[in-house]
Amino acid sequence: MCGIVGYIGEKQALKILIDGLKKLEYRGYDSAGVAVYNGAGIDIKKTKGRLKDLEEKLEGQEVLGTIGIGHTRWATHGAPSDQNAHPHPNSNQTITIVHNGIIENYLEIKEELINKGYKFSSETDTEVIVHLIDSYYNNDPVDAVIKAMDKLEGSYALGVLFKDHPDQLIAARKDSPLVVGLGKGENFIASDIPAILQYTRDVYLLEDEEIVILTKDDVKILNKEKEEINREIFKVTWDVAAAEKGGYEHFMIKEIFEQPKVVKDTLMPRLPENQNKVVLDNIKLSKKELENINKIYIIGCGTAYYAGLIGKYLLERIARIPVVAEVASEFRYRDPVLDDKTLMIVLSQSGETADTLAALRLAKKAGSRVLGIVNVVGSSIAREADDVLYTWAGPEIAVASTKAYSAQLACMYLLTTHIALEMGKITEDRFKELREELYKLPEKVDVVLKQSEKIKKLAEDYINSKNVFCVGRGLDYMVSMEGSLKLKEVAYVHSEPYAAGELKHGPIALIEDVSLVIGILTQESLYEKTISNLKEIKARGGKVLAITLEGNTEIEKTADEVIYIPETPWIFTSLLANIPQQLFAYYMATALGHDVDKPRNLAKSVTVE
Ligand code: M6R
Repeated sequence: MCGIVGYIGEKQALKILIDGLKKLEYRGYDSAGVAVYNGAGIDIKKTKGRLKDLEEKLEGQEVLGTIGIGHTRWATHGAPSDQNAHPHPNSNQTITIVHNGIIENYLEIKEELINKGYKFSSETDTEVIVHLIDSYYNNDPVDAVIKAMDKLEGSYALGVLFKDHPDQLIAARKDSPLVVGLGKGENFIASDIPAILQYTRDVYLLEDEEIVILTKDDVKILNKEKEEINREIFKVTWDVAAAEKGGYEHFMIKEIFEQPKVVKDTLMPRLPENQNKVVLDNIKLSKKELENINKIYIIGCGTAYYAGLIGKYLLERIARIPVVAEVASEFRYRDPVLDDKTLMIVLSQSGETADTLAALRLAKKAGSRVLGIVNVVGSSIAREADDVLYTWAGPEIAVASTKAYSAQLACMYLLTTHIALEMGKITEDRFKELREELYKLPEKVDVVLKQSEKIKKLAEDYINSKNVFCVGRGLDYMVSMEGSLKLKEVAYVHSEPYAAGELKHGPIALIEDVSLVIGILTQESLYEKTISNLKEIKARGGKVLAITLEGNTEIEKTADEVIYIPETPWIFTSLLANIPQQLFAYYMATALGHDVDKPRNLAKSVTVE
């Protein structure tokens, strides 16, 4: 949550900080601020609101200096306000910090500091860090930061400026992401790579409990014992353009339209035509290894969890392995049965979601094997998992996840077909048939996207819907969960996903003539049953928008509107059926005038628990 940046070099820091924060605003946008050393002291400018509010505040002001830090906030402790905005200084403004994370023992530390005479001017947990550093400071910045780290419980990525050491920028991390960008005569810190990508492709990925000393010509990474660590440079291979809007009005719609490529990039390298198997990168999941596994957990949050539910359904039905899928924030607190025969599959776009990372650590501690399905290369989950299957979706900037979900489903299709083949649950001929179908998926995604104008019109026609139910049976029910989440997130429309057969057990009482029900019908064996449920809606005045396979024209007798997706075997329909839901939510949100890329109250990377 929150994004931090830092710069030290020969250029004016302010513009670089603001440009970096623009790329990080997806992480939080309640308030923003910068601090620059101006030769005499540390100049802090901050405000409640978005980065554009900070830019307005900065108009006509000179903030000069070649070292600085910046922050964009997603409020946790203390409401969004000027006072609570970062950077936070110590009392005499000689030390200033930006922080991403949560300090769990801040109240206890705050009390101790107050007893020592420290005065607090914000309600944030962050402010304790700067006073704590101050309390340990004896002209040695690194020493003071390490001592503070020893005392802090929780998560942090920190950028720290010391007035007495204006040629150094200090950074540290624990359980919150932080990268160091390496330039010529300049160096950077940032919560995420896009913030510094226009300046450098050479990056150090920091590990937990590391401290970094940046000068304009040098970067030193230390552990808490002050021993220097040699870190390999990570070369960023993707393009700056991948993190830009490229002519689209919003990142969300750009990312929706990138899906044919994303699905292709995720599937094709793993499905070589000349080998009758799935090539799962270097992941060892042979028959022998699979036989050693007695249970599988699939863990994730939000959209990633919904992709995991589809994985569970497929692995059980096709590979015939029992799987439990669960949200990370529940899983980790229920003392789950984990041992060395457990395989945990964790799904995460960012690879930094705090609950998912904690679930992974729990599993590893119990000796279980963890396979990460992750989008951000080099993220914490990617680094800590035993194996990683990357979703090659490229940077996903919009807060609402779209292309990452499709890539996660593609990975689930790969895993299912691989495991089913290894375990002899499908024949080689069946595998080849399924592979042929997977080859066709990217093109079929394109066919669905071609209906965007029609879906836009539908979204505008139904803009006044008050309660939207998203329903389906089997895999369609799981897809409807994702559709419902998108409507809530970006259109702020109250929406509930339901197993179609469950409506009559209570929720149907809510159906009236302003209700819209999005019914998904891609599972042939369940068509008739779902159609009956949709008829029950119609009989009570609700409107029905159906998403179904080409050829299923029977539904036209029941539904008010029908969106067709190309014919596809039931196993792989979820990816296609979801795309009209993404477009519908996007167009409804834009018609309502919402900021779809930065929906209210949300942040892209949820690094708090
Ligand atoms: O980065 P992750 O995939 O771990 O994020 C998990 C959820 O926070 C995320 O999917 C969230 O639900 C999105 N905003 C959904 O659009």
